[in-house]
Amino acid sequence: MNILIIGSGGREHAFAWKLRQSKKIDKLYIAPGNAGTAGLGHNLEIDTTDFSSIRQAVLENHVDMVLVGPEIPLVAGIHDFFLADEQLKNIPVIGPDSYGARLEGSKEFAKEFMLKNNIPTAKYLAVHRGNLDLGIKFLESMQAPYVLKADGLAAGKGVLIIENLSEAIHSLQEMLNGLFGSASSTVVIEEFLTGVECSIFVLTDGTHYKILPEAKDYKRIGEGDTGLNTGGMGAISPVPFVTSEFMRAVEERMVVPTIRGLQQEGINFKGFLFFGLMNCKGDPFLIEYNVRMGDPETEAVMMRIQSDLVGLFEGVAQGNLDEKELVIDPKTAVTVVVVAGGYPGYYEKGKIIRNLDLVEASVVFHAGTRLEGRDVLTNGGRVLAVSSLADSMDEALSLSYKNIEAIFFDKMYYRSDLGFDLK
Ligand code: AMP
Ligand code: GLY
Repeated sequence: MNILIIGSGGREHAFAWKLRQSKKIDKLYIAPGNAGTAGLGHNLEIDTTDFSSIRQAVLENHVDMVLVGPEIPLVAGIHDFFLADEQLKNIPVIGPDSYGARLEGSKEFAKEFMLKNNIPTAKYLAVHRGNLDLGIKFLESMQAPYVLKADGLAAGKGVLIIENLSEAIHSLQEMLNGLFGSASSTVVIEEFLTGVECSIFVLTDGTHYKILPEAKDYKRIGEGDTGLNTGGMGAISPVPFVTSEFMRAVEERMVVPTIRGLQQEGINFKGFLFFGLMNCKGDPFLIEYNVRMGDPETEAVMMRIQSDLVGLFEGVAQGNLDEKELVIDPKTAVTVVVVAGGYPGYYEKGKIIRNLDLVEASVVFHAGTRLEGRDVLTNGGRVLAVSSLADSMDEALSLSYKNIEAIFFDKMYYRSDLGFDLK
């Protein structure tokens, strides 16, 4: 069969790498893809929300299935667009419709959903201009630090954590006045939770589900988890504190009620559910839902999935995921992200990446890269995700670090302390 992957990052390269291993794949298309995906399939120069061009490409290339990597086309309704089109409606889309995607697209919707389904989460209040006074009272009733979240998608920047009450009240007003555009016309104020975070991934056909390998990602730019937030500087799977007992609690208190809640709302959710959660002294609390796989977690998780991913996606499409087998490698997978100097602030693009051919025993997933002639050039803040699988975390990390030391581009940077908190 022919599969089209929507997206252009390390996650999409990792999906392409995994799908390419399936005997069921004829042609792989990636829109728009990057220099890494170009080696595994055909990149199509189409924007992820240009649905009419996607439609044309799907029909011209006889695409049998579409896998959506990022959240933006899901929230914008790519699945609904397919269902509403006579010629596309029978082509499965892996990823929820826009109603289901609200679990990620609206923090207020997600919190209401968690509350309705008794899923453990931080206390909250949704505030808009009409109830600002209640919002201020709610902040005054809480202890520092204060967590303010833009309701809508804000490219990962919509969460503020503020130490001081008067500053929090000021930021609340600024957010309601358009600090994050219309994404912050509603703000969710949350109680601050203390604990260690991890990412749990579930693939579902709307009724049945499979729990994929969990991962921990490293969001801060600096060593020791310091400095600005990024899209992710690396990931490790498995996560030692996710014991089978902890996972059972996640399944019983979060996964099962989420699938049941979706069914009760009449949402036929076909795709990935990503539970971003906090381990608070052994009890899981849900921080957020995403309706897609994580990046860079996918670049580690895909290395541990031994089963045919196409078979699992067919189960999602046909509603018989329970009949499919998911085999997970017990080894440890790590991915170390190499970024452009300056990221997540200003950084330059267009630097030549050298020595990719010297990499041994790791897989280099491309994130922000593009081809120019035979050169691979940097084309984003996060440039490469160097993934390794080994018997231990330390072994996997040293493989990735050894290979990164061989690779070179001007002003490259990476964190050399991944896993420091898991030892
Ligand atoms: P989000 O965009 O919802 O993932 O939030 C970004 C980050 O803010 C999370 O990964 C957490 O580190 C932090 N965060 C969000 N909500 C809370 C909370 N209620 N308590 C503590 N930290 C939080
Ligand atoms: N790594 C977190 C995310 O993909 O949102």
